[in-house]
Amino acid sequence: MGFLDDIEPLKQAALAELNATADLPALDAAKGAWIGPHGKFTALMKQMGTLSKEEKPLAGKAINAAKQELEAALTARRETLELVAALPSEPTDWTLPGRRRAAGRLHPLTQVTDDIVRSFRKLGFVVADGPEIEDEYHCFDALNTPHDHPARDLQDTFYVAQASPPASSGGVPAPSSTGGRSSLLRTHTSSVQIRVMEKQPPPIRIIVPGRVYRRDNADATHNPTFQQIEGLYVDKNVTLGDLKGTVEAVFKDLLGSDVKLRFRPHYFSYTEPSLEIDFTNALVKKLGKDWLEIAGCGMVHPQVFENVGYDPEVWTGWAFGFGIERIAMLRYGITDIRLFYENDTRFLKQF
Ligand code: DAH
Repeated sequence: MGFLDDIEPLKQAALAELNATADLPALDAAKGAWIGPHGKFTALMKQMGTLSKEEKPLAGKAINAAKQELEAALTARRETLELVAALPSEPTDWTLPGRRRAAGRLHPLTQVTDDIVRSFRKLGFVVADGPEIEDEYHCFDALNTPHDHPARDLQDTFYVAQASPPASSGGVPAPSSTGGRSSLLRTHTSSVQIRVMEKQPPPIRIIVPGRVYRRDNADATHNPTFQQIEGLYVDKNVTLGDLKGTVEAVFKDLLGSDVKLRFRPHYFSYTEPSLEIDFTNALVKKLGKDWLEIAGCGMVHPQVFENVGYDPEVWTGWAFGFGIERIAMLRYGITDIRLFYENDTRFLKQF
C-alpha cells in the first residue's frame, strides 16, 4: 500500500476514536494519540520526507485536508463534551420548591400609622401633609402660642440656622416675639392645621400623620424624634360630642371594643376648652396602670380662626393630637420607645 492509500483509513480510525470519547480527559488523550508529537497521524505526516518530488504535492494536499478534518472534528467534539460537563450531574427536579427571597416589611410604626389612617378614612377624614422644617409662625404664633411660651425656648426646640443669621446670634436665630419666620423642626403636627386652613375654606376634615422633633434626651419613653397624628374638623355646629364619638370609634377600631376613654380638662393655647384624653383597656391594666394619657384635644380657639381668616362667629371646630409610638407600644407590648429607632432587624422582623 502506498502512502496515499494509508491516509483515508488512518483518518477514519482517528475520527471514530475522537467521536467515541466520553469526556474531556479522554478527548485530550485521543488527541495526543493521533495528532500529538508522537501520534499515529503525526507519524504518517513525518513519512512525507521519504516521498519523491513528484509524489509530494499530491500527498501533501491530501494529508493537510485530512489533518484539517481531524482538527475540525476535535473542536466539535470538545464543544459537545464541554456542554455535557457543564450540565448538572443529577437530573433537574422541576417539582422542588423555588428559592424564596426574604420579603421586607413595613416598620411597625408605619403599620400602626396606616391602621390609624384607615380608621379615620372610614369616618370621612382625608390625609394632609406639611413641612417638617417649619417656621415659628405656623408652629407657634398662628396657634395662639405666645412668644414667652416655654415650648419656644432654644432649650426645648431645634432651631435651624438660617443662611446668613445676624453675627450677634452666634449663628442661631433667636425666637422672635412677633410673627416669627425663623425656621425650626416642628415640635408638633398642629402647624399643619394652620397650613391647611390658610389654603382652603371650611368645611375641613383632615388628619395629619407625621414626624415631629423635640429637644429630649432619649430614654424608655422619650425620643428626640417621634410621630404624631393631628386631627382637625371644622364646620358649622361642630361639638365636643362629635370629638368624643370620633376618637372613641377610632380607638375601639384600633385596640378593641374594651377600650374606655376619659376626658380631663387641660390647657392648650390653640383650643378652648382644652382636654386631655386618657385611655384604658386590658393592655393598660396589664401594665399595672389604671389610665394612660394618650392625646390632647379641644375646641379650636376663636383666635386661631381669626389668624387664618375664618369667621369664628360662623365656624366651629375641634382638633386633637396624639403620639403614634404610644399606641404602637400598647398594641405590641413594647416598653422602650428607642427600639423603634434602632433599626435592629431582630426587633423589626417580629412585626
Ligand atoms: N400639639 C399637642 C402636642 O404636641 C397635641 C395637641 C393638643 C394637638 C391639643 C391638638 C390639640 O390639635 O387641640 O402635645
